[in-house]
Amino acid sequence: MAAVTADRSSVGAIPQLGHAVILLGPPGAGKGTQAQRIAARYHLPHLSTGDMFRDHIRRETELGKRAKPLMERGELVPDDLVLSMVEERIAQPDCRNGFVFDGFPRTLAQAGDLERICQKQKFGCTFVLHMVVEPTLLMRRLTGRRICKAGGHIYNIYDRPPKREGICDQDGSELIHRPDDTEGVISERLHAYEVQTRPLVEYYTVRKLLSPVDAMAQADDVTASIARILDGAQIPR
Ligand code: AP5
Repeated sequence: MAAVTADRSSVGAIPQLGHAVILLGPPGAGKGTQAQRIAARYHLPHLSTGDMFRDHIRRETELGKRAKPLMERGELVPDDLVLSMVEERIAQPDCRNGFVFDGFPRTLAQAGDLERICQKQKFGCTFVLHMVVEPTLLMRRLTGRRICKAGGHIYNIYDRPPKREGICDQDGSELIHRPDDTEGVISERLHAYEVQTRPLVEYYTVRKLLSPVDAMAQADDVTASIARILDGAQIPR
């Protein structure tokens, strides 16, 4: 499928304002993989709500203690907890020119809140890249995923293995298997996506902010498709 650029005539008029780039798609669509690359290309911070929660869990904060059992079951964390964390994060100076969201928003309520925050903080444009993937590919991608402990670099034991088993090619650190990447929990996460997150496709389509991207292509080709869309919208590099 070719990437399609969404219609947004105001883009050229407000280049000085920040851009909210959202990667929307099911677990395993490649949001994290692409967010790392897109964030680097456009010098924007990569904001993964999943990573933020995993950090809270590691640090055993109150938020982490509330999120942990839900994440272990593959359920979403309640909107109010997500929102206060996100609002605090995007108020930080490194987000002034925009940010790349990976895993947020995930419910209609979160999307409405993001719209409100963006208006309040005067973020000019929102770009929603809808990562379209055949559901049958997702289980293999997720059960095979391994993540570098130090730098978050993403591998797949079937399709993108590291040169040395269990070791990150880029920084030599240990690769881990995420505890929610087991078949039972993955099924729950996919179900949560269908019920709670998929309605965002319609939400952003109506607002003419959605650009579909073929996320079944090779990762480099997916990056190129996304870059075409964002370059076309004159996001500065
Ligand atoms: P989160 O961490 O956001 O996980 P997710 O959405 O389930 O997405 P994943 O990280 O599993 O997949 P991805 O799309 O990033 O794929 P990746 O690039 O790694 O959320 C975890 C939990 O936190 C949630 O279940 C929830 O409990 C909570 N949470 C987080 N945000 C929340 C929110 N906003 N509201 C409420 N709760 C929230 O790639 C996957 C694999 O595929 C890798 O092995 C990769 O190498 C491979 N791959 C990637 N691209 C390609 C390609 N093009 N071709 C072949 N293989 C590829």
